[in-house]
Amino acid sequence: MRDKKSYSFYGKSTKVPFFVPFIDKSDILEMKKTLDSTVLTNGPKLKQFETAFRKITKAKFAIGVSNATAALHLSLNAIGIKRGDEVLVPNLTFAASANSIILAGGTPVIVDVDETMNISSNSIKKAITKKTKAIMPVHFAGLSCQMDEIKDIAKANSLKIIEDCAHAIGTKFKSKHVGTIGDAGCFSFYPTKNISTIEGGMMITNDRKIAKSVELARNHGITRTLMNRYSEGKPWEYDIREPGYNYRLDEVRATLGISQLKKLDMLNQKRKNAFVYYNKFLSGINGLSTPAGLDFKDHSCHLYIIRISKNAKINRDKLYESLLKKGIITSVHYKPLDTFTVFKEKAKVRGKLVRSKELFKEILSLPLYPNITKAEQDFVIKVIRQNLV
Ligand SMILES: Cc1ncc(COP(=O)(O)O)c(C=O)c1O
Repeated sequence: MRDKKSYSFYGKSTKVPFFVPFIDKSDILEMKKTLDSTVLTNGPKLKQFETAFRKITKAKFAIGVSNATAALHLSLNAIGIKRGDEVLVPNLTFAASANSIILAGGTPVIVDVDETMNISSNSIKKAITKKTKAIMPVHFAGLSCQMDEIKDIAKANSLKIIEDCAHAIGTKFKSKHVGTIGDAGCFSFYPTKNISTIEGGMMITNDRKIAKSVELARNHGITRTLMNRYSEGKPWEYDIREPGYNYRLDEVRATLGISQLKKLDMLNQKRKNAFVYYNKFLSGINGLSTPAGLDFKDHSCHLYIIRISKNAKINRDKLYESLLKKGIITSVHYKPLDTFTVFKEKAKVRGKLVRSKELFKEILSLPLYPNITKAEQDFVIKVIRQNLV
């Protein structure tokens, strides 16, 4: 683990970085063992990681891929999204959600979010046309979307649901792990996520056809895995029925995933403790709101986002600069989709996006990582109070 006193963030020395990865000695030891083996991709570690992920989420199938964008892309392909098909996506999400729709050949239709920062059911209802084929709810910051409502709308309009679970490893909706409620769920193991394989992703589904499609497409469309090909028959005897991609998750990263997954409850508990601590000392400040979520049960506590309203002493941008001057790194998740050139050209907007535009001016994500200390949080809280109280 890194020495807490020597944080460097893109060459700048900082007091409280935005994020510090949690990769410990046991993770490194396991990865070293895999590096010494003869199979470095397409092997048994990937299978083990998938099995462990299935157990945690209780999904019937789990397919490891190179990142969540690949998982979203292949899931959309698997449900048959094609040119002209519309997929509803919230304005407040990372670009990858909408990019994957374009990569699959569809058109992202951008809709608004509600007070919780998740896709709004009302906006979904108003945006449906004959061309709409799917909804992509994003469980933003680790809070589950209202999946009952979304499922009802999808059922009434014969739509598929691809859940973007990049922020939501460990998030549940009514005791079900997110990703198992719609047709497929896509997870990211990017370094800032609740567990990491550095880069990496996973698609889960209860639908055998979707699982088969994603499994084939992640490995060039080849009908037999390397393991099958070397364990029975001739290794070159395989077919390719559809063109595929190289979206594989290698053995070293899969090994890291297995090791990280064992720590998921501990890592999420540490995030939750930090959430509760921030909430306790940041509530009641005029013009600042803390995240909703009550006791954060079933919440993966991925991002801690405060809102700085119009009647606060200083605005969000000024607070960001003031924190930066003191060596505290914060960020905004995210610049809304409708502001990017690519989506102005290739996506459609339905509705007024009032809430996401308002949120974008007010939101600020505070430093949050499993090993953040109370002293670090106290310093962040102190500087925020100095600016706002
Ligand atoms: C909401 C959301 N969706 C998708 C992705 C894409 O994940 P990946 O970087 O693993 O492709 C991210 C990554 O940050 C994300 O935050």
